Amino acid sequence: MRTDSVVEAFDEAADAYDQVGVDFFGPFGAELVRRADVKRAERLLDVGCGRGAVLFPAARAVGRDGHVTGADAAATMVDLTGAEAARRGLRQVTVVVGDAQEPAFPAGSFDVVTAGLVVFLLADPHAALRAYARVLRPGGRLAVSTFADQDPAYGQAMRAMAAHLPADAGRPPTPDPMFASAEATMAAVAGAGFGDITCTEFSVVSRFSDAEHWLTWCWSHGARALLRQIPADRLPAATADGKAVMWGDRAPGAELSMTTTIRVVVAGAPGSDT
Ligand SMILES: C[S@@+](CC[C@H](N)C(=O)[O-])C[C@H]1O[C@@H](n2cnc3c(N)ncnc32)[C@H](O)[C@@H]1O
Repeated sequence: MRTDSVVEAFDEAADAYDQVGVDFFGPFGAELVRRADVKRAERLLDVGCGRGAVLFPAARAVGRDGHVTGADAAATMVDLTGAEAARRGLRQVTVVVGDAQEPAFPAGSFDVVTAGLVVFLLADPHAALRAYARVLRPGGRLAVSTFADQDPAYGQAMRAMAAHLPADAGRPPTPDPMFASAEATMAAVAGAGFGDITCTEFSVVSRFSDAEHWLTWCWSHGARALLRQIPADRLPAATADGKAVMWGDRAPGAELSMTTTIRVVVAGAPGSDT
């Protein structure tokens, strides 16, 4: 249930996802690949691949002798990302519809699993980590990113819009405690059998040309799961409240920048000799 409505929102958003002129998923994805130290000829699984923020840098890193499998539960994400890989002539890329919680691949299939900004969306992120350990070869690597710090105004703007939800609308589930701190995330990764665990942070500044640009961006990613539940007759007031909170004293036509920090956890698969 939780995953279904989230996946529906991403499926609706897929056309615009990461395509509205905002630095966000692209730089985070490229950094995840860099910190995972992806090498030529490696076999990599990218779960929750979206529009390829992780997948395309990974495809460059593994080169023609490697292979990258992107899996996403949203069929439109898969269609668009697969088409983009074909347009770029990336024969080392396959994109499939697949579950990030239970990737359906034989044990030991991959040298690297990447999970960029997806595990906190899953009903059982601990089960997902155990599944990644299973599909990695001994000595393989896992690289996972989660949110660390978001601009406080962003959270306030989301809450201002959520105040317009009907009483019977679903509310976002309480995040699993494993996302509360770097230590908790590392402990969860260790609990799934991984070793050699590091956790580092990385920040990106996103710029919005005006309040409408910010709102367009909100519809293009996971915030859509909230916005799509607000009845059409309440949406103008809800989005006006969100923009007012986000812009504060600035004029709606003024530019705004927002800093977001992620955690990148890199770990060695069970049986790792590194
Ligand atoms: C925030 S986006 C991240 C996409 C990409 N990794 C990136 O960094 O831009 C989350 C992605 O996970 C996908 N997703 C959500 N739940 C999923 C699940 N259970 N299995 C597979 N993909 C899922 C969504 O469709 C979406 O494409």
